[in-house]
Amino acid sequence: MKTWLRELPKVELHLHIEGSLEPELMFSLAARNNVSLPYATVDEVRAAYDFSDLQSFLNLYYQGMRVLRTDQDFHDLAMAYLERAQAEGVVHVELSFDPQAHLSRGVELAVPFEGLTRAMRDAKRRWGMTSALIMSFLRDRDAGEAMDVLEKAAPYYELIDAVGLDSAEMGNPPAKFAAVFERAKALGIPRVAHAGEEGPAAYISEALDVLDICRVDHGVACLEDAEVVARLRESQIPLTVCPLSNVRLKVVQAMTDHPLPAMLEQGVKVTLNSDDPAYFGGGVLENYIACFEAFDWDRDLFRQLAGNAIEVAFMPEERRSELL
Ligand code: ADE
Ligand code: ZN
Repeated sequence: MKTWLRELPKVELHLHIEGSLEPELMFSLAARNNVSLPYATVDEVRAAYDFSDLQSFLNLYYQGMRVLRTDQDFHDLAMAYLERAQAEGVVHVELSFDPQAHLSRGVELAVPFEGLTRAMRDAKRRWGMTSALIMSFLRDRDAGEAMDVLEKAAPYYELIDAVGLDSAEMGNPPAKFAAVFERAKALGIPRVAHAGEEGPAAYISEALDVLDICRVDHGVACLEDAEVVARLRESQIPLTVCPLSNVRLKVVQAMTDHPLPAMLEQGVKVTLNSDDPAYFGGGVLENYIACFEAFDWDRDLFRQLAGNAIEVAFMPEERRSELL
């Protein structure tokens, strides 16, 4: 079954490229850029990845990405991830990145855009792998700052497939970003947002109502509210679920407690994704395997989940029909 899952053409819709930074690359970029790390060895870094919640992870995630300084760094980061993904049978990837986490360190917007899009073109040329780019806003910072980033990104609008919303969810409801998402909509840019990861089901409906998103990132809290579940079922708005992330961030206690089977039973359209593979124990394939081990799902179900992701990906219709 593991071999079959590897060979199944898979699509990754929820991937923070900064969360794909493996400790080995962290060390080599730190050396290249003269950035000091609070760890002596790769094993020490891995040992620090013992999270109690989303914030405890975000602290290390923002610390780790300080080694990213040049467009070559972003290129190398993305290329390393895309190469691993292609070896796992991933045929299309949607990379999200956090420009504010770089701008605040003096890394200009052009740097991630140039490095990431160069890697995306290289992956297309080398492996025929397609990709999309999602520019995410940090919800624990001012909405005004997000608006400035959106305006500053004007030279790159052609490269942006969607905008997103991530970082610490509790206390930062979707409505805080109403104006930013309204502006993105006016610009014709599709919108996604993290909602119902650590936050309540009410954030899912608020993100749908106020931000007019076409996909919900995570959304696992939906089961708390039967009306939200009914809305997701009826609209078939897709959820990009990241099971290993939910276990590592203690959103659920174990894979066997994950709400995925209940979500499927309720007719919610779900997809399987990795979130931050370097921090949470693996990429898309590992997430598929973890579901197989926990739930003993059959091939038809995995085909359906992979198909869901193809259906809702930001890709040209021609590519979609090639994959479906
Ligand atoms: N940024 C990177 N990973 C994240 C996650 N799982 N939730 C919110 N923000 C994130
Ligand atoms: Zn995420």
